Amino acid sequence: MGLYSNYIFPRLLDRSLGTEEVGEQRSRALAPVRGEALEIGFGTGLNLPYYPQEVTRLTAIDSEQMLADRVAKRIDEARMPVEQFHLDASHRMPFEDQRFDSVVSTFTLCSIADLPSALAEIRRVLKPEGRFIFLEHGRSDDARVARRQDFFNPIQRIVGRGCNMNRAIDRLIEEAGFEIETLARFLMPGSPRILGEMYRGAAKICDR
Ligand SMILES: C[S@@+](CC[C@H](N)C(=O)[O-])C[C@H]1O[C@@H](n2cnc3c(N)ncnc32)[C@H](O)[C@@H]1O
Repeated sequence: MGLYSNYIFPRLLDRSLGTEEVGEQRSRALAPVRGEALEIGFGTGLNLPYYPQEVTRLTAIDSEQMLADRVAKRIDEARMPVEQFHLDASHRMPFEDQRFDSVVSTFTLCSIADLPSALAEIRRVLKPEGRFIFLEHGRSDDARVARRQDFFNPIQRIVGRGCNMNRAIDRLIEEAGFEIETLARFLMPGSPRILGEMYRGAAKICDR
């Protein structure tokens, strides 16, 4: 898997998630991000051009480092200061409680192995009035499509290096103690249905 994991996969990911269609969705998803923001699963930094000017500083974490030169160039061109950390979001992050105004995840909740722990960390570091902003693919509401997702998921986990296509993103976010304020469900244009069932929205910490 060395050549695939280290060379081919990062380039495939950067290309498939760097299209105009995905960029349009990134722009919509990131519009409400404000203040000091944390991005989990930073990947190759494809969100950077889409952050609004209300973002004053970005802390970016990822458990892997991919295409370091490309990422460094994107960080240099970003309009806000960006600090990058090599960290696993499902372990305790070295940030104090209630530090961030916004936490962002795009195309990442599918591939975090211990998602409940990562969502608990996101909740811990988010200010009470902050927002968790997400743009994710996941489980279809159509039972026939969901069955196909369950069937193909073991293959997807290998090809997509731990990516799951069948996670019910909204339910998992709510179960972690968030209230979803806005949610758009749609199919990503040009994507096969089992991979393109999208969840775009914002959640706040549930005070119940
Ligand atoms: C499909 S990529 C998406 C990258 C980027 N967010 C984007 O929208 O282009 C998923 C990213 O999540 C990262 N990731 C997976 N599990 C993680 C974890 N436990 N903690 C932090 N990052 C993680 C991967 O290394 C990868 O960079």
